[in-house]
Amino acid sequence: MKERLQQLQEDSLAALHSAASIKELQTVKVRILGKKGSLTDIMKGMRDLAPDERPVIGSLVNTLKDECEKVFTERLTQLEEDEISVRLVRETIDVTLPGRRTVTGSLHPVTLVTDEIVDIFSRLGFSVEEGPEIEKDFYNFEALNIPRDHPARDMQDTFYINDDLVLRTHTSPVQIRTMLKQPPPVRIIAPGTVYRRDSDLTHSPMFHQIEGFLVDELVTFGDLKGVLTHFLNEYFGADLQVRFRPSFFPFTEPSAEVDIACVICGGKGCRVCGGTGWLEILGCGMIDPAVFDAVNYDTHKYSGFAFGMGLERIAMLKYGVNDLRLFFENDIRFLKQFS
Ligand code: PHE
Repeated sequence: MKERLQQLQEDSLAALHSAASIKELQTVKVRILGKKGSLTDIMKGMRDLAPDERPVIGSLVNTLKDECEKVFTERLTQLEEDEISVRLVRETIDVTLPGRRTVTGSLHPVTLVTDEIVDIFSRLGFSVEEGPEIEKDFYNFEALNIPRDHPARDMQDTFYINDDLVLRTHTSPVQIRTMLKQPPPVRIIAPGTVYRRDSDLTHSPMFHQIEGFLVDELVTFGDLKGVLTHFLNEYFGADLQVRFRPSFFPFTEPSAEVDIACVICGGKGCRVCGGTGWLEILGCGMIDPAVFDAVNYDTHKYSGFAFGMGLERIAMLKYGVNDLRLFFENDIRFLKQFS
């Protein structure tokens, strides 16, 4: 019995010492001291011993039990400490490292252009108005002196929702909505999204315009020229050359298109301006009396001017972008150049 105990002591202590993890240590402990453990087994066998042997063996068993428990506790503490230090090393934080920067977004170039143009006109006393993108035929066409049989209504240009509703093809309906809402004088700038059935390198079915109009007593074409020339010089540079070219719009009379000296070649002629040295930048004119009739403005007392321009085109010229589609692809590499 003594030999058995000695062997058990050697094996047990060695096993406890060499347990490599807490889990393994626990298993070893159960193997020795558990209900079916080897030491427990010996204790159970004690009643078969001769009475005089019992105390001797009993005390040996107790010593061994205490010893095992002591080694177990020591080893457990050791393993727990090891585990903590491993974790500390693994989870070390170098507080001297620079932090991660948060990526800040930037405004879309079309938004930048809109804001800047609105800003210039605000300083001239214009205030911002908006209108719906799904528009009544009346506001988009009829009241703007574009009757049912006008070529501008051709199915090729307009997205019809039904007979009476369209996706607005320009921001000019805001003129009608505003003038029906308030009497003169009005001085409005109206940015917004517009839609046309057109899609190629320089046309997108969805794009943006900014509309401006002013109605008051004694407004002349000279006022129109002054305001637009001022705007273009503020936006593109004080020495920019500007020219007004006769044109036609159903809702203005007389009408004009405004060209600026090509911002790419400075007017010498290049691919962008088609060799002419000029870039068409906006449409404008004196508001047609037929429009005033539609909104019940007194045509004898009031006159006014209106203008409209495409914002993508202006953004392309301002930032030197050569493909319209870049504005709508949402490629971060493109967009972040405007921050
Ligand atoms: N609405 C016109 C267009 O989309 C632009 C314009 C606005 C022209 C106001 C004259 C006056 O082409």
